[in-house]
Amino acid sequence: MHPLRKLFDNGTLNYDIEQFPMSDIILDQVQSFYPQVKSLDTMHESMNTNELYDLGHKVNRELYNTDFYKMLDEVISKYIQQESGEDFLIQRFPGVRFLPPNQDKEGSVLLFHQGRWVGNGLGMYTVWMPFTPCYESNSMQILDLDISQEITRKAVSERWSYEKLNDVCVEHSWPITLQPGQAHLFFQEHIHGNIPNRTGKTRCSTDIRILVKNGQCHRRWPGSYFRPLGKNFQKTPEFKKGEIIVTYAEYEGIKTKKLDLYFQSLVVKEYCRRAGIVPPYQHGENEGLNHTHLEHLVEKAGTDHILLTSMFSLPDDSNHRVAILKKAVASGCKIHLCNEDMIVETAEDIENVEYIRTFTNDWSSPVEQLEEELFGS
Ligand SMILES: [Fe+2]
Repeated sequence: MHPLRKLFDNGTLNYDIEQFPMSDIILDQVQSFYPQVKSLDTMHESMNTNELYDLGHKVNRELYNTDFYKMLDEVISKYIQQESGEDFLIQRFPGVRFLPPNQDKEGSVLLFHQGRWVGNGLGMYTVWMPFTPCYESNSMQILDLDISQEITRKAVSERWSYEKLNDVCVEHSWPITLQPGQAHLFFQEHIHGNIPNRTGKTRCSTDIRILVKNGQCHRRWPGSYFRPLGKNFQKTPEFKKGEIIVTYAEYEGIKTKKLDLYFQSLVVKEYCRRAGIVPPYQHGENEGLNHTHLEHLVEKAGTDHILLTSMFSLPDDSNHRVAILKKAVASGCKIHLCNEDMIVETAEDIENVEYIRTFTNDWSSPVEQLEEELFGS
């Protein structure tokens, strides 16, 4: 059993709100858009609640220009990593959300679910942190682990309807009751969800996920979804006039073998859009020929930049991967990993890629594992 499992079995984290005044930082950002807002839990009184979703996006963007995420990293480092001594990656883009009273009237009630049903692997743990008092129906509702596991098995094996699942979960759930300065810790098997908020108070919260070493990550890719705690390997690309820029796609990797060209191209096109360049000529690997086309581009084609969909577009074999990246660094060919916003141009960049790429090699599916357990393979 992983040591974090005990800490995260519906556990509570207490942090110093004087040292980490994250609620105040959020309020400042909200007030920069809506100066009339007096407090986070009463914001629905001075603005139209259907603007809250959009406001959430704006505030989240602005929070990157504040100390908010640095504080969040420090809280998790101080109260979880140092406590447990465990190494983990942390979610790259967590988001702050606002839950106004009577959110059901706008069709936005988060129904009951658990991590494995929404793409999370069982090597992931969740920190749910409110920035307003949360209680009764404005809080997240959660179930105990044993009941969650029992309901999960029955819902799958007996093919429950969505309504039945939700009704049973409501019956067995309880509201998380916390103040700012606290967070709730749970893992992916705990069923949780929201109910209509009848407290008359808005809830503001964030949830942030971590991935433990060698943990199952399922659909959350290290590098794009997760980054190292306290660090960001992201770089902003620069392209000079006259440089040769190409893209390259392949179907050899654990993550890319089922990702057809259209979807791989979308990631590269979005990267080009952000960088302000036209998507360049697209090279494609000869499927089954073991990245030889990429080696040619890196070593012999005089290419300045190669845009890859992801670090998972590189060979799965670590020795082969590092050999190609070393050749690229030696020849001055920059390798852009679009999904991760990383650029390999130095030996240190190769180390960073390897740290993330080898953080786990568990690519199994918790959904398939449960099906096998219940129905046999
Ligand atoms: Fe969730």
